[in-house]
Amino acid sequence: MKDFTSSALEHIGFSGIRAVFDKANQLESEGKKVVHLELGRLDFDTPRHIKDAAKKALDEGLVHYTPNLGLPVFREAVKNHLQRQLGLNYSDKEIIATMGATQGALLAMGAFLDQGDEVIVPTPTFVSYLNAPRFFGGIPVPLEMKAGEGFQINLEELEKKITPRTKIMVIISPHNPTGTVLSRETLEGVADLARRHDFLVLSDEVYDQMVFEGEHVSISTLPGMWERAILANSFSKTYSMTGWRLGYIAAPQNLIGSMVRVHQYVVGSSTSFVQAAGAAALNQSQDCVREMASTLAERRKFLLNNISSKLVPVKPDGAFYFFLDVRPAGYTSQEAVNRLLDEGVATVPGPAFGAGGEGFIRLAYATTLEELEYAAEKIGKVLG
Ligand SMILES: Cc1ncc(COP(=O)(O)O)c(C=O)c1O
Repeated sequence: MKDFTSSALEHIGFSGIRAVFDKANQLESEGKKVVHLELGRLDFDTPRHIKDAAKKALDEGLVHYTPNLGLPVFREAVKNHLQRQLGLNYSDKEIIATMGATQGALLAMGAFLDQGDEVIVPTPTFVSYLNAPRFFGGIPVPLEMKAGEGFQINLEELEKKITPRTKIMVIISPHNPTGTVLSRETLEGVADLARRHDFLVLSDEVYDQMVFEGEHVSISTLPGMWERAILANSFSKTYSMTGWRLGYIAAPQNLIGSMVRVHQYVVGSSTSFVQAAGAAALNQSQDCVREMASTLAERRKFLLNNISSKLVPVKPDGAFYFFLDVRPAGYTSQEAVNRLLDEGVATVPGPAFGAGGEGFIRLAYATTLEELEYAAEKIGKVLG
């Protein structure tokens, strides 16, 4: 039988994070202690009132398809949230409830890419963005961000990457894997280029509630950007709901109109009672978000005080990651990951996040202070 695999999958493998996770699990099954710093998911439970809202919706029979865009109550909640949080005025026809930000990003690629169109992706990056364009014949164009430049986007280098085929640029802030928060100045530079060269910006803001220093700026709020920005967000991180698969995209109606045409044939609509829970999450008290952020702030502070500063070339101001430079310890990324795993600490090699990742490892502080104390001691032992 011939190989039926689509050529679109030629460059698409499995995430490098999975490999570490599997290995760590194997060690655990052999009875070894492993501190899991490899996965980008929080160790908190979903807040009670959000679960209750889902149960109530189920009990009330909210078990059918919703409109493609999502439940009106969900879109209303997102609309009000974006207005409160960022001063952005989207209508409820300018929001789609998605199965996480991952699906939101896919909709943008599916709606706007023609064969051979280019998507500029600053790297290292959340790997989805280096793969998603390919499903639709698009070409990801990596733009390396450097520790020496604070992992900000180099605007001169960006301009060199722009061609007549550039359709979309992806930005993530706060950033995975570096923890960087893009500065207003950087975002203004990106916005200026997007307007002058006429491309769309897909703005991934899934860590927007986890900013410990500086400010979160949404590029959609910058002059002339509302019309060309697609804001993708998620409940996964903010409310510790990774398994619920809920997010949204917000964009002007002409862009949403194209994206919903893809959405209707990908999932139809996202899960009904999960949307109801999402509406409750946004409409009710945000104390749970503040509590999670303050726990994360404490962990971040602990790591900043207990990991040698030579390993931390850029202080991570947001999200819940450290991108450690292992070169001063004389290791490649993979060597450092292996050595740490031997000591019972699971991390991810930087190259799993694309170009610019070699020499770095990512750790997610999505675990208790007690576990982080153990990890910090081992990091000190292995990397100095
Ligand atoms: C930057 C970024 N975007 C999106 C996602 C995925 O979000 P979701 O669970 O909403 O699909 C992640 C997950 O780690 C992420 O780091």
